This record gives sequence, C-alpha cells and structure tokens, in this order.
Amino acid sequence: MPVRVGIFGYGTIGKRVADAVLKFSDEFELVGVVKPTPDYEAEIAVSKGIKVYTYSDKLKDFEKLGIPVAGTAEELLDKVDVVIDATPGKVGKEMKEKYYAPRGKPAIFQGGEKADVADVSFNALANYDRAVGAKYIRVVSCNTTGICRLLASFLLHGLKIRKVRVYLVRRGADPKEHKRGPINDVVPDPVTVPSHHGPDVKTVIPEINIVTMAVAVPVTLMHLHMVNIEFETNVTREDIIRMLEETPRIMLVPTGKRMDSIAQLIEWARDIGRYRNDIMENCIFEGSITVVDGNDVYLSMAIHQESIVIPENIDALRAMFKLADKWTSIEKTDKVLGLITSGKKYKF
Ligand SMILES: NC(=O)c1ccc[n+]([C@@H]2O[C@H](COP(=O)([O-])OP(=O)(O)OC[C@H]3O[C@@H](n4cnc5c(N)ncnc54)[C@H](OP(=O)(O)O)[C@@H]3O)[C@@H](O)[C@H]2O)c1
Repeated sequence: MPVRVGIFGYGTIGKRVADAVLKFSDEFELVGVVKPTPDYEAEIAVSKGIKVYTYSDKLKDFEKLGIPVAGTAEELLDKVDVVIDATPGKVGKEMKEKYYAPRGKPAIFQGGEKADVADVSFNALANYDRAVGAKYIRVVSCNTTGICRLLASFLLHGLKIRKVRVYLVRRGADPKEHKRGPINDVVPDPVTVPSHHGPDVKTVIPEINIVTMAVAVPVTLMHLHMVNIEFETNVTREDIIRMLEETPRIMLVPTGKRMDSIAQLIEWARDIGRYRNDIMENCIFEGSITVVDGNDVYLSMAIHQESIVIPENIDALRAMFKLADKWTSIEKTDKVLGLITSGKKYKF
C-alpha cells in the first residue's frame, strides 16, 4: 500500500512537492494539502484534482469564493501516514507542536526551520543513511542543499577538504513575492559573518571547515554562489570536472553556448519545456572551474531556489519509510522528475 502523504502549505515549495509526490503513485498517495487562504493557488490545486483542506475557522472564506474544501486540517491528519510541512519558516515548529506530534505523525520539514525541529538535517547525497527510519527530517534550504551536493561530490570521490569559503549572491525574493525586495540595493544578508548557510551545512556534514557570506540583490530568478574549496591534496581541473560529471543532481553548464548567466539558464529551462522553468540540478558554470596552487579550487554555481529541494523531499520520504537505499532512491527520483546530469553514470 502506498504511503499516505499530507502536505501543509501549498506555496512555492508545497505545490512543487505535491506535483512531485503525484509522480510516484506506486509508492506515495497524495491525500491532500492544507492551505489557510482561499486564492488562485488553492483553486489551481482543486483543478488538478488535489484535495484542499483548511482550518475550521477558514472554511467560510473558502465557501465565499466557491473553492471546494475536502475537510479540516485535523481530518487530513487522521488520513495520512506522514506530513510534509512546507509552511513558511518557523511556522513548521509550531505546527509540529500543535498538530503533528500530538497525533504521532512523522513529518518532513523545510530549511526555514531551525535544525532542532527534526532528528536529522538531510541531504540525499551527503547523509541519506542518517535519515533512514527517522521520525522527523528537515530538508535543508536551497542554498545549503546546493553546497552539500557540491561538497558531497568531492567527499564521495575520496577527496579530503581542508576548508570551504562560499560567497552567496542571494535572490531578493521568489518571482511571486510581489511585496519583497530589495528593489534598488545590495544588502549584506546578513551583515554578520558567517551567514547561516555555513553552520547549516555543518548540520549535514559536521566535520567540514566552512565559512559563508551573503548579499541579497534585486533578482528573483536564482541564487549565485562563488565557491572556493581548498583540498588537502593536489587536484587537476580535469579531476574536478570528472567528479562533478559523475555526480547526480549536478549539471555542468558549458561555456561558449551563451548560457553564462542565470537569466540565460532560466530561458534554457523554459525553452526545453521544464514545467515552471524549474531547474532541480546545481548549475556549475564549467568555465569558472579553476585550480590555483595545485589544491585551491574556484567555481561559480547557480541554484534555482524554487525547485532544488524537491528531489530531496522525495528521497526523505523513502528514507523515513525505508523504501529504498540511497542510490536506488536518488536514481528513481531523478529519472521520474527528469533531472539531467552531465551524462555520465555515477558509481560510488
Ligand atoms: N522559496 C524558496 O526559495 C525556498 C527554498 C527552499 C526552502 N524553502 C523553505 O520552504 C518552506 C516554505 O517556503 P515557501 O517559499 O514555499 O513559502 P510560501 O511560498 O510563502 O508558501 C507557504 C505556504 O504555507 C501556507 N501556510 C501558512 N501558514 C500555514 C499554516 N499554519 N498551515 C498550513 N499552511 C500554512 C501558505 O498558505 P497561504 O498562502 O494560504 O497563506 C502557503 O501556501 C520554508 O521553510 C522555506 O524556508 C523555501
């Protein structure tokens, strides 16, 4: 019998996770989603055949707009084996205390929650096995997911990392967030060092020596990371490219084909017919990969914040219910969701 899934929150992440869960109907059944506000997003969910639930004090609001509701949040909880929480940052912790834990429901949280909301902070490539059988899992944020995948690529290939420095240019808002900025600014975000991303990577890869700094800019398309990794031993540019090519969920963006910016990457995603122009892979600009002094590696990578964590949510479900081992899970997720890597089959 498929694992019955309920999703709390149907925004940027929740709606993408819902669409992804529907693609794995042999393993998971999407019982419904919870949304407090009746709006076009709720209406689209209904039009896709997704059952929408809400809180009892919101039922009337839905009724007024003629958006059908399948029941209350509590009723959804009674029908599911697991919750995927995609509510705004920090709300998930409240939801856990008020709704999920009292009913004994396991839950998968997102990166806007603090690490202590869950038993394990998760990235499939870096620490799938730690999440096997866990009751509460936190899929780390978009930026942390991107950094963890990159570092996991080198660690899985047996390289020893001395230190990592990442400078993040963060998108100011998601495309739909019409009230957020900055509009005309570059904002140290945060002004203090490190930004939360480095410590967050350590919740997944504890031994790593990493410092991150971030600024937010007036862009909604993707984040851009400028990465510097110092290895214990010498590597060549060709070694780095080969390792990245062999790693799932990492895409090398060729130089010379006018795919040298995040706008061009998003246009590429549109042109090849990616739904919502989602890019679930880390996009590493091949031309940026440079080795200095034998062991000091530099590269730039773009991260599509709206979609990069979707594969990890599917893998987290499988790990929680012990449905597959790490590589079987990653391979199936990527095949069904249509991710591409640089084409070489990985073998670790
Ligand atoms: N967007 C990103 O770039 C990104 C990337 C990776 C991870 N994350 C993380 O993913 C999580 C969700 O972020 P998001 O960007 O998807 O947020 P979002 O677009 O603002 O969506 C949040 C959703 O949660 C719903 N919601 C609010 N309070 C709720 C409650 N008490 N119960 C049930 N649903 C509730 C909202 O419904 P209404 O619209 O009806 O109010 C909305 O559908 C956060 O932890 C965030 O940090 C976000």
